[in-house]
Amino acid sequence: MARKRQTWGTRLGIIMAVAGSAIGLGNFLRFPVQAASNGGGAFMIPYFISLFLLGIPLMWIEWTLGRFGGGFEHGTAPGIFHTMWQKNRFIKYFGVIGIFGPFIIFIYYSYIESWTLAYSFFALTGKYAPATTEGAMQSFLRGFQGLESNSFFSVPLPAYPFFLITFFANMAVIYYGIRGGIEKLCKIAMPLIFICGIILMIRVLTLGAPDPAKPSWNLINGLGFLWNPDFSALKSAKVWLAAAGQIFFTLSVGIGVILTYASYLSKGDDVVLSGLSAVGTNEMTEVVLGGSIIIPAAFIFFGPGQIEAVAKSGAFNLGFVTMPLIFSKMIWGVFFGCLWFLLLFLAGITSSVSLAQPTIAFLEDEFDITRKRAVTIFGIISFMLCQPAIFFLGKGVVNELDFWGGTFCLVLFATIETILFVWVFGMEKAWKEIHHGADMEIPVFYKFVIKYITPLFLFLILGFWFYQEGVPTILMKNVAEADRPFVLATRVFLLMIFMALAVMVKIAWSRKRKRRKT
Ligand code: ALA
Repeated sequence: MARKRQTWGTRLGIIMAVAGSAIGLGNFLRFPVQAASNGGGAFMIPYFISLFLLGIPLMWIEWTLGRFGGGFEHGTAPGIFHTMWQKNRFIKYFGVIGIFGPFIIFIYYSYIESWTLAYSFFALTGKYAPATTEGAMQSFLRGFQGLESNSFFSVPLPAYPFFLITFFANMAVIYYGIRGGIEKLCKIAMPLIFICGIILMIRVLTLGAPDPAKPSWNLINGLGFLWNPDFSALKSAKVWLAAAGQIFFTLSVGIGVILTYASYLSKGDDVVLSGLSAVGTNEMTEVVLGGSIIIPAAFIFFGPGQIEAVAKSGAFNLGFVTMPLIFSKMIWGVFFGCLWFLLLFLAGITSSVSLAQPTIAFLEDEFDITRKRAVTIFGIISFMLCQPAIFFLGKGVVNELDFWGGTFCLVLFATIETILFVWVFGMEKAWKEIHHGADMEIPVFYKFVIKYITPLFLFLILGFWFYQEGVPTILMKNVAEADRPFVLATRVFLLMIFMALAVMVKIAWSRKRKRRKT
């Protein structure tokens, strides 16, 4: 007998869950780093253009594909793609990217998420307070990550216990399922994220100019750094790629998770307004809250030159080095520091559970096993695979995982699903499918955008990005000689995971074929 698929409890629940998946470390850490290292205001124009031409269309496409696939008991891309193009025997293998990508991101994302938990504890206990300079705070972070031994920690890898707590917290949430785990978590965590974000924003917006010797390091100029537009940046392919990449990452589109979440909807549920609400919630959080904390605070305390330099010096430096230093200079710094890292942790966990869900759904739907077994299998395998990210962090492993899982696969998967939806399934059918049960009509010019502009934009990004970043990365141009064996091993390991998933798809489909015959 076929299992009954899970469903969401309420409409607000799924919107909160999709917004929870979207709102993550990307909004509060990645966005400021991308904006700061791409010239602040120069970044925002391509960012908003990418939002309207890529982000919103992809959100609608993924909600629709997911709901469509759920109607056929498929919650992940192999089954959804196969249902849309039944004559093609190979299309289901392209869908493997939609399970592989989130699985790989989960492996390093959950580890980084655990740092935020650790730092909220450190903020509360005053552990990083003795680090009063940038160098010392850097050293604190490296000691915590096990990359150097120093006087801050007496154990070799202090990050590990926090990883264990975070990992098991994630498992507990997915163990309780869509309604009892993910929906419940998001309904509690999302309001808390907003409350923490608003408190921190108000604190930063009332900072003024604390250093009388540097009156230009003030709030207005800090906000201007992000908001003064710079049209000359429109000519820079690099800024466009960074902006489009941020839209993918922040909205969780092109990953495969929204397909899975939407597959638990019913056929008549709206996807247009719900999808738009999720985008709106994410963008408000990213641009308003995410844009009003790190950047103005770092500008006020460290000045414009320093922000860009720190952002370029490492993806985590603004969040884990600059911010703790800023909090130490503030009155009530312990409270605000703790709030900042707690906010990051909550934003992280609502995203990481969504990254785990496609694999769980794949096991449940295509192998007909119970959720509890699926979570156990996922837990054991992902736990083992997290270890290289933890122990070889300094060897470029996380960068490599992020390149393939968190960047390349997103653009590739988005391109495949868009072409499939618009050009294979057909635009007229697609438009009708999107509007099934819809609470609002999409303006008709979006039909043109989704049919021509979004795919063209995706091809351009894929091409430029591959040329500019893909080729040097594949050739390991930016990897230190000593790290190359680790990076190569990571690639072999990724290829093996991809192949294993493809083989699983093959097995699942041949089992189904056999079952149909008997
Ligand atoms: N969308 C998630 C984030 O922004 C993955 O962190």
